[in-house]
Amino acid sequence: MAAADALEGAPLRLGSVAPNFQAETTIGRIDFHEWIGSNWTILFSHPEDYTPVCTTELAALAKYQPQFTKRGVKLIGLSANTVENHGGWINDIDEIAGVPVQFPIIGDKDRKIALAYDMLDHQDTTNVDSRGIAFTIRSVFIIDPQKTIRLMFAYPASTGRNTAELLRVIDSLQGSDKHRITTPVNWNPGEDVIIHPNVDNEKAAELFPNFRIVKPYLRYTPLSKDSLYIGNK
Ligand code: BEZ
Repeated sequence: MAAADALEGAPLRLGSVAPNFQAETTIGRIDFHEWIGSNWTILFSHPEDYTPVCTTELAALAKYQPQFTKRGVKLIGLSANTVENHGGWINDIDEIAGVPVQFPIIGDKDRKIALAYDMLDHQDTTNVDSRGIAFTIRSVFIIDPQKTIRLMFAYPASTGRNTAELLRVIDSLQGSDKHRITTPVNWNPGEDVIIHPNVDNEKAAELFPNFRIVKPYLRYTPLSKDSLYIGNK
C-alpha cells in the first residue's frame, strides 16, 4: 500500500505516513521511524502522569504486552510531562499491573509531538496543566511496518480505552493484509470473516473451500485465530 506523505499542516488520515520525530523517552532518545523498524506500532497518548484512568490503562497494556508481542506489535506511550516524571509514575504502574512496564513512554512536555499528531485536548477545560495549556486526549495511532497510519482512535480524558479492542483491530488489520478478507460487525478473532468483495466466487472457492454465500455480495468463511497473526504465515 502506498502511503501519502502528510503535507505540512494537513490533517493526518488513514494512509498518511506517520510523522517522524526524535524524542526523549523512558528508554532514552529515539528516532521514531528507526525505533519502529519493521514492526507494527501502537502510538498512544494519555493526558497526564499520576492520574487514575491513565494508570489503569497503562497497567492493562503492561499486562497484555505478551499479546502485542505475539502479533509483532510494539507499544509506545506519550504524555505532556517529562521523562523524569514518567519514571516515578511507572513504579506505581508496575505495582498495580503486577508486571513491569516494558514499553517506552515519550516525554512531550513542550507538546511538539502532540501537535504533529493533533493529540491536544480541544474540549475538556479540566484537562490542562497549571498554566492552563491543554494536555493530550487519549489518541491511538496504529502504524504498520511501512510507517503508514492504518487506524486512529480519539477518546476523551474521561473515558479509558479498551485493551481488548486494540488487539481485536490489530487482528483485523493483520488478517486482512494476510488474507483477502474483511471483518464484520462485532467480529472477534476465531469467528467467521467476510471474503473481500474483489474476490470472485471461483477464487473464493480456491482460497476458502468452506465459504458460504448469504447474498452475492456477502460471503463468509471460517478463519482460525492463529492464521491471522503475521508471525504465523
Ligand atoms: C485520568 O487519567 O484519570 C484523567 C486525566 C485527565 C483528566 C481526567 C482524568
